[in-house]
This record gives sequence, C-alpha cells and structure tokens, in this order.
Amino acid sequence: MARPAARAAGTRDARADVAARAAGAAADGVAEAIVDGAAAAAADADVDDVGLAAATAHRPGRAAADARHDTHAAPAPSEEPCRAAPTSRLPGFYRRTVEERRAALAPMLSAEARAVIARSALPIEVADRMSENVVGCHGLPLSLALNFTVNGRDYLVPMAVEEPSVVAAASRAALFARAGGGFTGRADAPIMTAQVQLDGVADPAGAAARVAARRADILAAGDRAIPSMVARGGGCRDVEARVIDVEPGMVVVHIHVDVREAMGANIVDTVAEATAALLADVVGGQAGLRILTNLPLRRLARAWVEVPLATLGGADAADGVVRASRFAEADPMRAVTHNKGIMNGIDAAAVALGQDWRAIEAGAHAFAALGGAYRPLATWRVVEGALRGRIELPLAVGTVGGATRVHPGVRAAFEILKAPRAGELAVILASVGLASNLAALHALAGEGIQRGHMRLHRRRCEPGGDGDDRI
Ligand code: MEV
Repeated sequence: MARPAARAAGTRDARADVAARAAGAAADGVAEAIVDGAAAAAADADVDDVGLAAATAHRPGRAAADARHDTHAAPAPSEEPCRAAPTSRLPGFYRRTVEERRAALAPMLSAEARAVIARSALPIEVADRMSENVVGCHGLPLSLALNFTVNGRDYLVPMAVEEPSVVAAASRAALFARAGGGFTGRADAPIMTAQVQLDGVADPAGAAARVAARRADILAAGDRAIPSMVARGGGCRDVEARVIDVEPGMVVVHIHVDVREAMGANIVDTVAEATAALLADVVGGQAGLRILTNLPLRRLARAWVEVPLATLGGADAADGVVRASRFAEADPMRAVTHNKGIMNGIDAAAVALGQDWRAIEAGAHAFAALGGAYRPLATWRVVEGALRGRIELPLAVGTVGGATRVHPGVRAAFEILKAPRAGELAVILASVGLASNLAALHALAGEGIQRGHMRLHRRRCEPGGDGDDRI
C-alpha cells in the first residue's frame, strides 16, 4: 500500500516531471505556446501532426494552465473531417412524444440503428458476451443533448444518464454557446502511456541515460508486441525514465504509444508487459507493475466558448459565472463540485458511447490535482464584451474496440453522433463538459438550481417522491 509520504512525494514527482517538460519546451522554443492561449492552439495543431516532440513540448503545468485560463484566448478551428448531423437545433424536442422524437431522428440513421433504438434493450446474448456472471441488463434512458456546434459542425450528443437535468442543462448551455458560434476545440494526438516499475535499481540517476541509449531497441520491442496497431499507423513513439525519489532505487519507465482510434488500454498494457524484461536489463533492478497510467498527459483535449453577454441575460449574469469560476479556482472544496458538474455531461455521453468513463473520471481528477492543489477543469472570464470559457483535461476515448464493437446501442449512439474520429470525439466531450459547467454556474449564480431541478424531478417521480436525487 502506498504510504502517505510516498503519495505526497509522488505528486511532487509528477509536478517535477511536468516542470521538466515545460523546461524542455522552453529549450525547444515553444514555451510561449504553454502560457499563451492563442499560441497554445497553434501548438496543438502541431501535436496532431508532428506527434511526440511537440506533444512533449506543450505539456501544461498548472501554472501554465492558469496562465491560459487568464488569457481565455480564442483558438483556431479544427480541421478534423466528420459527417455531422444536419442540425442539432430541434426546438420543442422535449415536448414531443418518444415516437415523435424517434421520427425526427430517423432520417439521420441507418435502418439498423433505428431498430436498435426502437428495441431499447441489449440482447441478453450480447450482454453475456460483454461481461461476467450476467443475469440481465441494466437499463438507462438514452437521451439527446441538443444545440451543440463544435468546430463549426452540429452534433446531436447521445447521453445515457438517470439525472434529467444533465441533458437539459447541457442542451441549454449549448444553445447559449450557439449564439457565439458554438464551441471550438482541439485534441492531442492519441498517445497513451505505459508504466513499467523497476525496483532495486543500483544507479537510478543514470537510468534516463541508459534508456535513451537503448531507445530504438525498446520502441522496437514494444512495436513487435502490437503488430496490428503498427499496421494501422500507430505504435511506440517515445520512452523515458523517471526516478521516483522517495523510494530508494525505484525507477519508472514510460513508453508512449500512439493508439490511433482506440482508447488504448489493452495496447499499452501489452507493450508494458512485452518490454518489462528488456527494461529490467537496461535499467537494472526488478520489474514490478506493467500497466498504463490513467493520467494520459500526452492526450489532452481542450475546448473554448464565447457567449455574448446579452445571450446570458446581461453583464450581471456573466459576472455571476466569473465569480463562481473564481470561487472554484480558489477553493478545492468548491472545485470538486464544479468539476462534478463538468463530469455530469462528459460521463453521460461517455456511457452512451461505450467509453471507459471510470478511466476518464480518474484522469480528470488526477489532472485537476496535478499542481498539488485540486483545481477546476474549466474557468470563465468576461473578455471584450463576452463570457469566455475554456476547459482542458485528459480524454482517453476510442471509436474502435470494446463496447463500440459489440454493443448495438453504442453503435447506434455513434451513428447519432455521426461516428466521429477519436480526436473529434474528445473535443466534443470536452465541449459537453464546458456546456454542463456553464449551465450549472449560470443557474447557481442566478436563481439557483433547485427550481428547475425539482421541476424535472417531479415530472420523473410523480406520483410521490421528493428530496435531492442528485448523485
Ligand atoms: C449537480 O449534479 C452538479 C452541480 O452541483 C455542479 C456545480 O455545483 O457546479 C450543480
């Protein structure tokens, strides 16, 4: 079990790591990109194309992230291709019957997806293949969050969640965002990171140099273990050694793997296991754990939005959102609730789309705490007559493998979203998080959330039932 001191020092170590990356970025002449929002967008474009060198260069430390929060600079639009829904603007959708909603959606879907949605159940034989000890299926409503425009394209965002206010809130804030042109965002290249633990290393300080000297061999050994990923254009891209200085003789080797359209956990775990013996040989010591990290710092997604003050109901309403943001920036006790509101939307969409939402949650909160203090993932400022928000978090999402392959409901959800690529999906999820945050802060700073929340609650629970159903 990790001792508290070791955990604390582990945090320090991660921060040192991030600081070292920032220093490396400075050496590469891209340090400005870390602290300047507009330039950060340009750096992100490099990350998508160039890969590791640029990806390493623009890792954010919290200080850097904070600097960007303050600039709230507008980004350049993404160039990711996609087939978008004709429109995400469906006024009065919530007042229609389920049948009417299905009819409105039908022209956008294949016959198979229409049938899956109409059936509204997972065939038990599919459920049995998906999990262990299966006795039935657990249902959740599949809803659509409306009004989303992301990088100039409209999306109907499928959400699987039991809290009705999550869907309503995201849709409402997306409508606010629409008035300012919608959301803009960018995702890093799909780099996941394997960790191989080595204990009892005689010369930890020399580990980085020994690993660098055998870099090509290590990457080749990793690639040999994942031939089909290499054939798809992915594979091992970089390797580095970190000394865990609170544990004498402990070194961790990170192998960074481009997992293309996959979430990537299995691929990265395969690489970790396949390279452990070689790494023990190169670094010394005894191999321990061989597993991915759920804090994929080279796979961040970001989204920005700019909402005209009039759309929000004036300067006071926008000021309320900014004050709420500052509260979360100053107080971890508030930041965690602020982030919970962000994850309300991201998780709901992630569940509908068959993503590993536990991994997304773990990564989001670890990222929020990366600088040693727990911070909000999204922040807001009024700049030049508009409310500007930005969000940044790691998002390990995939469009292939796992539930995306076997679960017909997930496949239908991808059809609704128009099957985006993984990077595009990450940006959509980040935008959904930003929308969820805006809706919550706008309501909290205004009339409070209970009135709208309880209205939805009553509709759901009648007859009877009261109290706080938020989880
Ligand atoms: C409730 O599910 C989420 C909120 O608490 C988020 C927030 O406080 O920002 C409303």
